[in-house]
Amino acid sequence: MKNPKIILLILLICVFSKEIIAQCPIIPAPSSYSQYKGKFLFSIFVETNFAQIPENLKKYFDKEMLQQFHTDLLEIESDKPILSFLKIESAIHKDYYEIDVKSNCIQISCTSDASCFYAINSFLQLIEKKGTETYVQNCKITDYPKFEWRGLHLDVSRHFFTVDEVKKYIDLMAFYKFNTFHWHLTDDQGWRIEIKKYPKLTDIGAWRDSTVNAHYTTNPRTYNTDIYGGFYTQEQVKEVVKYAESKYVNIVPEIEMPGHARAALAAYPEFSCTGIQQNVPGLWGVFDDIYCSKKETIDFNIDILSEVLELFPSKFIHVGGDEAPKDRWKKCNNCQKVILENNLNDEHELQSYFIKKIDAFLTSKGRKLIGWDEILEGGLSPNAAVMSWRGTQGGIEAVKQGHAVVMSPGSHCYFDHYQSKNSGEPIAFGGFTSLEKIYSFEPIPEDLSLQESKLILGAQANLWTEYIPNMKQLEYMTFPRALALSQVLWSVSKPSYKEFQETLIKKHLFILKQKDVNYSKAVFYPEMTISKTKKGIQYQFKSDLKEYQFIENNINQQDSNSKISFHKEIKVNLDRQKIPNGETAALVVPFYLGLELNPIYLNYKLHQLLGLPIKYITQPNERYSNNKELCLVDGILGKTPWNSSEWLGFDTTEINFEVNLLKETEIKNVYLSFLEDVSSWIHLPEKIIISTSTDQKKWDEFSFDVTKNKNSYQINKNATYIRYKIVSKMIIPLNFPGEGNIPWTFMDEIMINY
Ligand code: ACM
Ligand code: ZN
Repeated sequence: MKNPKIILLILLICVFSKEIIAQCPIIPAPSSYSQYKGKFLFSIFVETNFAQIPENLKKYFDKEMLQQFHTDLLEIESDKPILSFLKIESAIHKDYYEIDVKSNCIQISCTSDASCFYAINSFLQLIEKKGTETYVQNCKITDYPKFEWRGLHLDVSRHFFTVDEVKKYIDLMAFYKFNTFHWHLTDDQGWRIEIKKYPKLTDIGAWRDSTVNAHYTTNPRTYNTDIYGGFYTQEQVKEVVKYAESKYVNIVPEIEMPGHARAALAAYPEFSCTGIQQNVPGLWGVFDDIYCSKKETIDFNIDILSEVLELFPSKFIHVGGDEAPKDRWKKCNNCQKVILENNLNDEHELQSYFIKKIDAFLTSKGRKLIGWDEILEGGLSPNAAVMSWRGTQGGIEAVKQGHAVVMSPGSHCYFDHYQSKNSGEPIAFGGFTSLEKIYSFEPIPEDLSLQESKLILGAQANLWTEYIPNMKQLEYMTFPRALALSQVLWSVSKPSYKEFQETLIKKHLFILKQKDVNYSKAVFYPEMTISKTKKGIQYQFKSDLKEYQFIENNINQQDSNSKISFHKEIKVNLDRQKIPNGETAALVVPFYLGLELNPIYLNYKLHQLLGLPIKYITQPNERYSNNKELCLVDGILGKTPWNSSEWLGFDTTEINFEVNLLKETEIKNVYLSFLEDVSSWIHLPEKIIISTSTDQKKWDEFSFDVTKNKNSYQINKNATYIRYKIVSKMIIPLNFPGEGNIPWTFMDEIMINY
């Protein structure tokens, strides 16, 4: 016979916990969420017992409830408040909290002040408005963070952001449960923090007399010659630190050394190797002039850091360490003397020596040095932590050596990269970091053991501001991508990307709008695929999202009154045979987003090789082999600044492939185009050898030199097959970034008769 007690228990569970399967509206998603029937309805006043929480949280909660939901939290001390806070003394997980909403009462239980702040923000996201009703669905939440370093970075050197703008950035990050603000305060193009002992750092170093226009790879370069700059006084810094503390955000200041120091050297040229006075540059990039490694410079930096430590209570202090060319050190008597006196093997060990001195100072003050992964070169300081930006390899290496690591690889965490393939995107640094890619990020690399993985503190996104001149653009580049990263860093039970997308669209874009955030709408853009057809290629734009539909028959938007029919998909066929050669066309795919008509743009080229089969004898590098079969014959020319998806990248000195034209064709000329971006080690090749044949037995060969990006070579032959052999420089020449390494060759399209 069945146990009657169990039956009673099952009955009770059925009666009292009618759990509804529902998606949690909170981002980042809590570790558990159960929704029940019924809801808590807000009236204008909610009796609240705040006894267990600090004053700043009371104020914050009060203000948000009033501003967002016109609800007053009426403080009472009775035993039966409608909304109450409870302190839980212990929990397994740091910053654990619970929220329990029943139809007539709400209980928020916290283990720490920070957890209480997280709970309040979660609770604010639970509140819904329908018509005149404001309510929270009955539910139970338990939650805690996955990683302890949940960071966003901001470069205020390339472009300056005011105290109020920085506070807004902190507000937004805190609302989405980030807890670390990496404040990049110094760089070549501007020194942004007052240092009392060295006033020229801000008198001179905070101001530049020009700023490069357009992308810095544009040739020829032009400059805006307005004076540009700004800095924070120490009082302002203290104010921001205090403000961040009230939102449980720690500020990690970054003072760059020994590279990215041109602004400091403009003020104090005696700390460079040459001693020559130079300006604060208005150009972006990596400069040869860095701090000299002599004792005086190290003392200068220790003086600066001494003042910085007074302002920032952070355990971690970032000292940069990235992109420090060694050219000056090789030729500097002072630097060579330090190498000799300390038995160092080379300039990498000299950088390590420099950082070790700073590490010893910070350690003596009870702090911990963190630097970009270049600080591994020449040996890592004993107490240093590493921020891995050039992929995750540096991070893995540091962990293997027993050091703490923050992951911030360019592939997933650089928010200065493009976020969509829309040709209408505002200018960005280059690269492609979509919402979905960020969402897929896993900060702990697979090959680490459980023990090693504990050294991965977390991750952060970097907002380098060369192409982010103002707050609106900063918001556009940061949101909603930061929400995807917050899921990665907080959620121990991360929902699927599709669920995240839905929650984002249904709820959080409205929240962002209400907070006056200029977020990107890329999440609505249709997914584009390119496929081969019998006669050429097809572009397909597709979306499963319910919120918008494509409008068919409105391509090129020539006739805005044309009949509108709604589809979830548009297909555009481009045929090789029918089309005029070389014509450029702009494809505009209009689609609805709410009530706005938001077109996305795609520029393409019509030509005779579209969709033809290519046989690769040399394979492109895996990282830059997007849509390999069609990339060179898909009609889409690579843009500059480059977006990796449009280019095939090869890291070999010779590239060979063959195109089958399927029938004998008259070829007047062949066209090839290449990318040149020497700062990314991408060079033009030196030679091209074209061979043509009608039968793959007898070949005619033509050889050409490459002197520019876009090249059209006359051959005047009939052929069915074309072989391409592309020969690059053996190594990157002296005095170029990456000298001595094999250069990259990037190609976007091949055409004929163009
Ligand atoms: C970096 O992006 N140079 C750290
Ligand atoms: Zn020197």
